[in-house]
Amino acid sequence: MAKRAKKRAPKKTTARRPRQAPKMLSDLFLETLKDIYFAENKIIKTLPKMAKAANSKELAAAFNKHLRETQGQVKRLDQIFKMLGKPARGKPCEAINGITDEGAEIMKEFKGAPALDAGLLAAAQAVEHYEISRYGTLRTWAEELGMQDAARLLQATLDEEEATDHTLTELATSVINLEAEEDYRAAA
Ligand SMILES: [Fe+2]
Ligand SMILES: [Fe+2]
Repeated sequence: MAKRAKKRAPKKTTARRPRQAPKMLSDLFLETLKDIYFAENKIIKTLPKMAKAANSKELAAAFNKHLRETQGQVKRLDQIFKMLGKPARGKPCEAINGITDEGAEIMKEFKGAPALDAGLLAAAQAVEHYEISRYGTLRTWAEELGMQDAARLLQATLDEEEATDHTLTELATSVINLEAEEDYRAAA
């Protein structure tokens, strides 16, 4: 069969989306939902590694508990995507990649060291604070968009993130940092 003699390359234009509607809060809500969906799935991959690395049994248990909660949080996000009639899809989030990379660095550099758990706690709290910021924003936007059911789901996750942050703070002040310090003194 004869091929067409000339195949024109698609014309490049500077205005790629000439007729696109202006971006609204609902667009921002969807984009941020994709961001946190990516983040939660990344956290699901990271938490088992942190639990395995932790010296303290309490810390490992806290990571494992939060892993189960995080799996439920992804399901809540699935529900919200469904409410929007959109596929549940993540969008790479450089912020969470950076925070988890730092955690990986600590695990590598402090492997077997007394201060490892203190470093793991710090990394985990950075993750929680990122999530608290994102979920607070998403909950507020859901309310402003009149999505009360979505707002309730986001609030439920926000409560879990805040409770996890408190647990980690308690672990830091009650056992882990003290253990690291005592080991340091003993070694001195
Ligand atoms: Fe989460
Ligand atoms: Fe979390």
